[in-house]
Amino acid sequence: MSAEALKRIDHLARALKAPRIQEAAGRLAEQARDAGWDHEEYLAAVLDREVAARDASGSEMRIRAAGFPTRKTIEDYVFDHQPALKRDTILHLAGGTFLANAENVVLLGPPGTGKTHLAIALGIRAAYLGHRVLFATATEWVTRLQGAHAAGRLNAELAKLRRYGLIVVDEVGYIPFEQDAANLFFQLVSSRYEHASLILTSNLSFARWGDVFGDQVVAAAMIDRIVHHAEVVTLKGSSYRLRNTEIETLPSVRAENAADYNHSN
Ligand SMILES: Nc1ncnc2c1ncn2[C@@H]1O[C@H](COP(=O)(O)OP(=O)(O)O)[C@@H](O)[C@H]1O
Ligand SMILES: [Mg+2]
Repeated sequence: MSAEALKRIDHLARALKAPRIQEAAGRLAEQARDAGWDHEEYLAAVLDREVAARDASGSEMRIRAAGFPTRKTIEDYVFDHQPALKRDTILHLAGGTFLANAENVVLLGPPGTGKTHLAIALGIRAAYLGHRVLFATATEWVTRLQGAHAAGRLNAELAKLRRYGLIVVDEVGYIPFEQDAANLFFQLVSSRYEHASLILTSNLSFARWGDVFGDQVVAAAMIDRIVHHAEVVTLKGSSYRLRNTEIETLPSVRAENAADYNHSN
């Protein structure tokens, strides 16, 4: 390739703000000559580098913006520790159809069974698939909505949040809500209903959500909207955190495993 042409490519790639084209043009031209690619194949290979790099940096930006407390992947989830959970269920969710259909995922189970892990892993997948994602605990969501409400812009905030394809609400039920908090949370759920996805995690079965929201009617109306289009995944067993300790179960877990977790996948 002539030095002249390479210089022009440099200039044009800069004008297009496409640094990978500049980088790939010379290198791939040599490869093309060696391998006998035609012009179209060469052009496709160069553009491919730019697009792949943009996709990767877009995903990385979405992952950083999501506010995950840590990074977890489906690949590091040990399914053998959770025999009741079908790997296919999670792999299917990882494919992202639920996001396209504005469906929800609910992860229920005792502490340490990987609810947050799976919620983060699915959130990261969503970011890779091009969806904007936000992660926070139920308490943090309520604080955010209370702030918006106090500033008289709750509807604007809910509308803004609807532009996120996925919102993760971790730890529903760790702290009971006051009535105004329960109402705000209900509005979050309603505003996303059939528009955009939610992933919720909870250590409590649905039967006990009434206590969290202080009101059986509000809880029932909320659960109704959440599970209308949802995959409910129930995790069981002992904490993964305690797997190599002498401790077999946490105080509350035995009773809950026995009585509460009877939803089927
Ligand atoms: N089946 C599993 N395979 C691999 N790591 C797991 C598994 N279950 C839990 N963990 C790990 O154990 C820790 C606790 O899991 P976490 O998702 O926070 O539990 P939960 O949210 O259900 O309380 C995390 O570090 C998580 O990555
Ligand atoms: Mg958790």
